[in-house]
Amino acid sequence: MLKQKALKLTALTLAVSGSLAISSVASAATQIKAAFNQSNNHPQFQALENFGEKLAQETDGRYKLSIYPNELLGDQRAALELVQTGSIQMAVVANPLIENYDKTFRVIGMPYIYSGSEHQEQVFTSGTLDDLFASTKKFGFEVLTAYTAGARSMYTKQGPINTVADMKGKKIRVMQSDTMIKMLSCMGGTGVPMGQGEVYSAIQQGVLDGAENNEITYADLKQYEVAPYFSSTRHLMVPDLVVISTDFLDGMSKEDQNTLKKLLKESTKDEFKIWHEQIETAKATAESHGAKFNEVDIKPFQESCKSLQAELIETPEQKALYEKIISMQ
Ligand code: GCU
Repeated sequence: MLKQKALKLTALTLAVSGSLAISSVASAATQIKAAFNQSNNHPQFQALENFGEKLAQETDGRYKLSIYPNELLGDQRAALELVQTGSIQMAVVANPLIENYDKTFRVIGMPYIYSGSEHQEQVFTSGTLDDLFASTKKFGFEVLTAYTAGARSMYTKQGPINTVADMKGKKIRVMQSDTMIKMLSCMGGTGVPMGQGEVYSAIQQGVLDGAENNEITYADLKQYEVAPYFSSTRHLMVPDLVVISTDFLDGMSKEDQNTLKKLLKESTKDEFKIWHEQIETAKATAESHGAKFNEVDIKPFQESCKSLQAELIETPEQKALYEKIISMQ
């Protein structure tokens, strides 16, 4: 654990100071350092890599993307701050992190807001979120596109979750935002906010009873080893957002800026496709290591989260966006 932390710190120092690159860099190319918190097998890593190749091609090698996986540049909260200060240029962060800056974002990560993956892809690729994303520029970063992270379900150490009552007294890790803590309460348990890198050992040591996430992350981070009961509550489809430093973007020529924005938007479809290709393999991998998947009647969970939905929509902007998304189902 300590060794891993020391390694991360070294990578971070070298990345920020500019002397570590995962792949070789043509001398003329401007580097784009991107922080990612999971492995290089993850669909988002692959979609970003494809994006990087196209960007290099379409800008005649003026830009070179280097992706730092596995929280090498810190957890998502730290990575977002590095983007904000311009120490690195890009990061993939989960929606709740951006919600902390603008609560309109809550809407696109609310419990049970998407009817399924097709609906979510339609919302992400139809331009519906363009204005919301552009409005983040004032924070020092800009959201350029959204990636799917599938549907999140509960997984636990001691036994499956079938009912809201089964959640009672359970300490479940959630992402670092108030909405996520509230969401866990509406499902009957207690939410413990934490960066992803700490989850495995916190479950192992009994600090947590479990966590909630999608099948790909569950398998990618081998969390089935410590929490083998995966109960398909499918309570959230929280987007991941690709953010870029405002200063960096402003420093690009208009033409290169447009190319980067266009290619990143297009990478969303690619990412959905890779996601669908990988999901069954992820489940099979987890099962082959002893994970047990159980179906859950989600209606009682939906019912118990209804009041939270109402509570989360406070402003006219949120209401308008909520209605727009629902009308696209
Ligand atoms: C998903 C999501 C990540 C997020 C993670 C988490 O894997 O894709 O962006 O960091 O959940 O729960 O922290």
